Amino acid sequence: MIETQLPLPELAASELRLLIGGERVDAASGERFEVLDPATGEPLASVPAGGEADVDAAVAAARAALPVWGAMAPASRAELLWNLGTRIAELSEELATLEALDNGKPRAEALMVDIPLASEIFRYYAGWVTKIEGATIPLANGLPFHVYTRREPVGVVGAIIPWNFPLLMCAYKAGPSLAAGNTIVIKPAEQTPLSALRLADLVEEVGFPPGVVNVVTGDGPGAGAPLAAHPGVDKITFTGETGTGQKILEASKGNLKRVSLELGGKSPNVVFADADLDAAVEGSYGAVYFNQGQCCIAGARVYVHEDVHDAFVAKLLAKLKAVRLGSGLLEETDMGPLVSAEQAERVGGYIDSALAEGATELAGGGPARLEDELAGGYFVRPALFTDVTPEMRVMREEVFGPVGMVSTFADEDAVIAAANDTNFGLAAGLWTADVKRAHRVAAQLHAGTVWINTYGFFDVAVPYGGFQMSGYGKELGAEALDPYLQTKSVWTDLS
Ligand code: NAI
Ligand code: MG
Repeated sequence: MIETQLPLPELAASELRLLIGGERVDAASGERFEVLDPATGEPLASVPAGGEADVDAAVAAARAALPVWGAMAPASRAELLWNLGTRIAELSEELATLEALDNGKPRAEALMVDIPLASEIFRYYAGWVTKIEGATIPLANGLPFHVYTRREPVGVVGAIIPWNFPLLMCAYKAGPSLAAGNTIVIKPAEQTPLSALRLADLVEEVGFPPGVVNVVTGDGPGAGAPLAAHPGVDKITFTGETGTGQKILEASKGNLKRVSLELGGKSPNVVFADADLDAAVEGSYGAVYFNQGQCCIAGARVYVHEDVHDAFVAKLLAKLKAVRLGSGLLEETDMGPLVSAEQAERVGGYIDSALAEGATELAGGGPARLEDELAGGYFVRPALFTDVTPEMRVMREEVFGPVGMVSTFADEDAVIAAANDTNFGLAAGLWTADVKRAHRVAAQLHAGTVWINTYGFFDVAVPYGGFQMSGYGKELGAEALDPYLQTKSVWTDLS
């Protein structure tokens, strides 16, 4: 049994209930569902099984709060967002433990990435609240009109959150939504609802007006689908699976609500022969295996120049052999469990498919991948394959687990073509000492983010989002405000 400072007493204070219109309430049905600890498979807590009635109530509360939120001085709204960011930073230790418990990720990683970035997002967008401006537009035809634009909120936002970065994805969606003057209904992933409910506590604590932020836990069909279809929702922002994104788009058509989609990828990571090999190995390890590989940006298609392939693979393998699997709460853990039994099964299926399609396995320990000594938890050992071909499922579909595929290449044009041979386009990485090549190749890769001699860095000020089937609607940076705003043109006759 792992001894830890469980944050559950704080969570228990709100009795892990929904936040609707400033009230902590149970699901209308009275039903709850269990949240499991992915390191053991044991129940961790139970949360309300929100459904259509709860979504209706939350959307009504969010709509009622719109004029209240809009009437508040921008500086006061900014202060609330800032204070929320500050509280998240102050509670870093607790929130990191909560994410490690709920998602399985190493606590140190949550403390380094999830929590500080979530905090910074609220503070960064606090700065934008007072800077949302229109323009005065001189008419092209020179007629005597005074025309100006207003940047207005779209209204009620529904945020459908994935389980890989539970609190952080709430911040990605809520930060710019609220800064733009919208109100929001957050639907966390059913696998990882705890940090969103803790966020609800903090929203209440810092004093947001009732209904500005609402949190409804529940599963996809029960709570996500009614939110996506709701006529009272003006915009859905979603991160998750491509197929779910397509369902959400279908559901949006009834009231033509705005939709932003961040749908993952199949990102390439290219290592040229002149790269700093140790840095490339280190960076590629993170690209493939960070967060147990459960990253939309995972650079799992690794292309290594034939001159350095063997050296690269040897170094990467040495790293993989040293990886310690264990509970995310333990300091010595390098890699935690996957989020759920379903995900472990899915990833095991991809590993089996690679073997069946003829790939060569360099690291890993049997197709099922479940470690005996960690039985009960959803552990999957890091896997590495060579002799992969572009048609294999693992090269075309998002695996979302600790599985890397190494291919070789001989020349630049060929590797660019191989890297771009995907329907996705979220991210890409390249490693080279040649600055001209670096930017020449970066310009040709079809991806919303390209990292040169690094991988996976994020900053709140830098826009992020996909090309092609990785979705549309940027997150982070000033650009992330655009999908949450609509422009009104106002004409005055001066003749
Ligand atoms: P998912 O896309 O089905 O779930 C993400 C969120 O959408 C959850 O909150 C879920 O409750 C909600 N949802 C599910 N069905 C819905 C529906 N019909 N209408 C509205 N909301 C709905 O992802 P899932 O099933 O958890 O994971 C499957 C795969 O999706 C993963 O293996 C991975 O490849 C991908 N994925 C990608 C993520 C990314 O960051 N791009 C994050 C999570 C999953
Ligand atoms: Mg799903």
